[in-house]
Amino acid sequence: MAILTGYDAIFTNSNSLTPNPTMRVRRSLLFVPGDSRRKIEKAATLGADVVCLDMEDGVALSQKAAARESIRQALQSINFGRSERMIRINPYGSGLETEDLRLTISGRPDSVLLPKVESAEALHWLDAQLTAAEQANGWPAGGIEMLALVETARGIVNLKEIASATPRLTALIFGAEDLASDIGAVRTPEAWEVFYARSAVVTHAAAFGLQAIDMVFVDFNDTEGLLRECRQGMQMGYSGKQLIHPNQIAPANEAFTPDDAAIARARRIVEAFEQHQATGVGAFALDGKMVDMPVVKAAQQVLAKARAAGRS
Ligand code: COA
Ligand code: MG
Repeated sequence: MAILTGYDAIFTNSNSLTPNPTMRVRRSLLFVPGDSRRKIEKAATLGADVVCLDMEDGVALSQKAAARESIRQALQSINFGRSERMIRINPYGSGLETEDLRLTISGRPDSVLLPKVESAEALHWLDAQLTAAEQANGWPAGGIEMLALVETARGIVNLKEIASATPRLTALIFGAEDLASDIGAVRTPEAWEVFYARSAVVTHAAAFGLQAIDMVFVDFNDTEGLLRECRQGMQMGYSGKQLIHPNQIAPANEAFTPDDAAIARARRIVEAFEQHQATGVGAFALDGKMVDMPVVKAAQQVLAKARAAGRS
């Protein structure tokens, strides 16, 4: 597991919360139907930052019990390498969530993803369940992270209480398909129908020091389209993407890792800034463009992401 480290003193001037310095790298989050041992075994070998063993939408109602059992066994017997081991349980209030957790937690996942989150109450419930499991098993308190998938109109409207519900929460995830069906929108490649919500999720994540993980791209044979949507999400501030197929992992890892040109430019900005600071100059010009504090902070973020991905 790579860790973001080395945020510089520059961030201490910031008014907003900065990303957690020990945040996991989550460029690629691959969903795997929990009832498919074959897919779980394959997923463990693919180099995804996160493998998410699913009990919710990827599993038929008749297979929920089988998925719980296969996930518990997989967590106990399969080596996932450097991939984070995440589980997705069914939504709070579905009637399935308590058993989902009870029958899989002994596999000691790294993190639990709660879908269709609409309130802080749902996250408080999960937080309490995880605290109890940690106590019962003698695991470190607060060690299992929580992620909230926000994908309903109510979830979007309640983002502030969701994002601030518990310190155990480390990421917000945006679900476009469920949101579109909830609000009566028709999905299009341009995704303007979900743009307000997509933007609201990443903004609330930043405001509360959380990661933001972008929507699924369902056409898993269209790599160009996937790359375009990854870049758009990255430009909006997302740090990773939900994925459904092995083909999508390499493009997502690439799109959410700063490339050579971005790293070189960020280095030049930071160096020039330090020189100008030393001579008492705040704003200055570099390559014909104005550089001031926000530009420098953005450059620092690029370098931190590059370091986290092992690129510098
Ligand atoms: N995780 C792990 N392995 C996967 C995978 C996934 N999400 N999706 C496909 N694979 C495997 C397949 O098993 C196959 O491996 P094999 O040849 O060794 O059997 C290989 O990758 C190629 O798969 P392919 O034939 O192209 O796709 P498919 O028809 O088997 O599956 C989906 C297509 C969409 C059903 C499948 O990708 C999937 O289940 N995705 C996840 C869906 C999901 O979780 N949805 C809910 C969250 S949004
Ligand atoms: Mg869903």
